[in-house]
Amino acid sequence: MSETLKRQAAAMALAEIRSGMRVGLGTGSTARHFVDLLGEKVAQGLDVVCVPTSEATDRQARDLGIVISDLETLDRLDVTVDGADEIDPALNLIKGGGGALLREKIVAASSGAMIVIADSSKLVEALGQFPLPIEVNRFGLGATRRAVAEVVAAHKAQGDLVLRGADRQDPFVTDGGHLILDAFFGRISNPEALSRDLLDIPGVVQHGLFLNMCSKAYVATPDGVKVLQNRN
Ligand code: A5P
Repeated sequence: MSETLKRQAAAMALAEIRSGMRVGLGTGSTARHFVDLLGEKVAQGLDVVCVPTSEATDRQARDLGIVISDLETLDRLDVTVDGADEIDPALNLIKGGGGALLREKIVAASSGAMIVIADSSKLVEALGQFPLPIEVNRFGLGATRRAVAEVVAAHKAQGDLVLRGADRQDPFVTDGGHLILDAFFGRISNPEALSRDLLDIPGVVQHGLFLNMCSKAYVATPDGVKVLQNRN
């Protein structure tokens, strides 16, 4: 059911893509549907150049015959289509459940518009039930972790700060070679201040709060796909 809804949202976003566009390709299971459908259109003659947000999406897109470029060659994209872990009523997001938040944010920030595709389970009243991914440099991990713990405690995190993958043999490593700390908040009351405070820590590379970046969301519900617009 959920995969059907994700594909429906992806299909709606696909209608926004026209020949000649430069398109950022997101990461995750919903974005994967979009890349699949885009591959079908490319096979039928749609002429687009795409920048992927992860090695996984890069591989998928190349396998489908989609033309891939990068942000050295193209310094501006028309649109990025990506999934999200949480979407609040102002279309602020938590992203990074798949660990691709850094490239996702760079690509989205280089795009004229960011379109999010999701099923309705991702809609929340306030961000923070999904653990916030915080990407950190490996160097100085202990000191960075302590500083991040102080910031998340000051922002009233209700749960632990967890090094992703620490319960397995090796921690999770991002495409950029960094590590991820997941912070369990429950509810993030001031996302803008939290964003600033996290980015003030030298070892923090990026975090998964995407504030005021998403212009439109296609959210698939069992009753059809809803279009949510950012009014700002
Ligand atoms: C990848 O790092 C994430 O930002 C994904 O876009 C996000 O986790 C949504 O993934 P799903 O579409 O798989 O839920």
